[in-house]
Amino acid sequence: MKRAFSITLSALDEARFGIRMARALDVTRADLEPMLAYCRQHQVRLLIARCAAADLATAQALEAHGFRLMDTLVHYARDLQRTPIPALPEGLAVRPVHTSEAHSVGRLAARAFHGYLGHYHADERLDRQRADEVYISWAQRSCAALDAANAALVAERDGQLAGFVTLRLVSAGAAEVPLYGVDPAFQRQGVGRALLIGGLQWGLERGASTLHIATQITNTASQKVWVRLGFEPTHAHYTFHKWFD
Ligand SMILES: CC(C)(COP(=O)(O)OP(=O)(O)OC[C@H]1O[C@@H](n2cnc3c(N)ncnc32)[C@H](O)[C@@H]1OP(=O)(O)O)[C@@H](O)C(=O)NCCC(=O)NCCS
Repeated sequence: MKRAFSITLSALDEARFGIRMARALDVTRADLEPMLAYCRQHQVRLLIARCAAADLATAQALEAHGFRLMDTLVHYARDLQRTPIPALPEGLAVRPVHTSEAHSVGRLAARAFHGYLGHYHADERLDRQRADEVYISWAQRSCAALDAANAALVAERDGQLAGFVTLRLVSAGAAEVPLYGVDPAFQRQGVGRALLIGGLQWGLERGASTLHIATQITNTASQKVWVRLGFEPTHAHYTFHKWFD
């Protein structure tokens, strides 16, 4: 599905890092000048810009204008109907989060995403502690904003919270996993697999035909979980940062 260029100020990022920030998605070379004009007009200090990894002409034009590469996102998708969804690994339960657990999920996200190699952490000019907090508050907000199209599940082993996954219906037929993480104390025990099995089941029950997910190209652990569950690669994006000062 071809998406159109968009640029918006990011109030969340501004509150987190204390500087005016904007986000531009699906950038092409033709959008470069209007995008820079928008940033000047709105006194943006840091622009986060994503372009298709296949569009090297745009990536190179961004480089020529002082944009720096911060991460590469790989996108995968899993057909929910073509092959059956596997059973949960033994000893693990997956259930909807209670809103009262938002704080515990936030603390779990703090442990899982400490020093994570996303584009915020990759930018040496951004405070690392605040970069960690992006994921903590994202996880907490997801547990507080639950409705028919937005869910969060947790995995438990022996009654202990081991991991969480957030889920969203994005359009007719499509669901996505915005975020998931496993407490380091519970990693490599099949918890990531269990969470995504829960996510696949959630999407299927809501009539979706596909579950989409994305991560940094360097996140081998996450991609191993996906390919073992039948996800396939679809496309990739580059994330650039451009500082205006
Ligand atoms: C990615 C993540 C969710 C995987 O969770 P998990 O519970 O360890 O996943 P599983 O046990 O189901 O399987 C993980 C597989 O990935 C691989 N793996 C796990 N940790 C790894 C590591 N540090 N390095 C390389 N491979 C690793 C292993 O092959 C493992 O399977 P194995 O133990 O059978 O060999 C977890 O590592 C995590 O929370 N990471 C930090 C946050 C994150 O990356 N979230 C996902 C963002 S998209």
